Amino acid sequence: MDEVNVRIDVNGVNREEKIEPRTLLVHFLRENLGLTGTHIGCDTSNCGACTVLLDGKAVKSCTVLAVQANGRKVLTIEGLGKGGLHPIQKAFLEKQALQCGYCTPGMIMSAYWLLSENPSPDEEQVKRGISGNLCRCTGYRSIIEAIMLASKEMSAGRTHGRDGR
Ligand code: FES
Ligand code: FES
Repeated sequence: MDEVNVRIDVNGVNREEKIEPRTLLVHFLRENLGLTGTHIGCDTSNCGACTVLLDGKAVKSCTVLAVQANGRKVLTIEGLGKGGLHPIQKAFLEKQALQCGYCTPGMIMSAYWLLSENPSPDEEQVKRGISGNLCRCTGYRSIIEAIMLASKEMSAGRTHGRDGR
């Protein structure tokens, strides 16, 4: 199959690669760029382990072709934690919101999108925000608590000029 050129801003860096047109964004990130923080948990677009932000909006990267991201911006878990742990990552640690960790990058990217859209969600809104992300380990309680905690920390950071990225 003829390869095509794509140029995608990934975590603030322009990445240009030749790929087969059928390459999924998740494979582009993991295999072409070595960004293995984005996980693959299913092949049915159900689990959310592959969630990244495309132009600021959460998408399941197993449902997007890399060519569809051409000329656009992608944020992955590696980019989120680039300047040190993000407040959402810190809250996940504090609330022990992970066990095997397989769902965690996708869960955190969905939480990040949720908090970008709605900085002070209530519990129901948090549940809806992560409804596309499956976790087999935690029972979700600690994840919800972590996102609520991150929302408080990020709001306080904004008020006090701390890092509320
Ligand atoms: S790997 Fe994308 S939703 Fe499961
Ligand atoms: S921590 Fe294991 S799947 Fe969520």
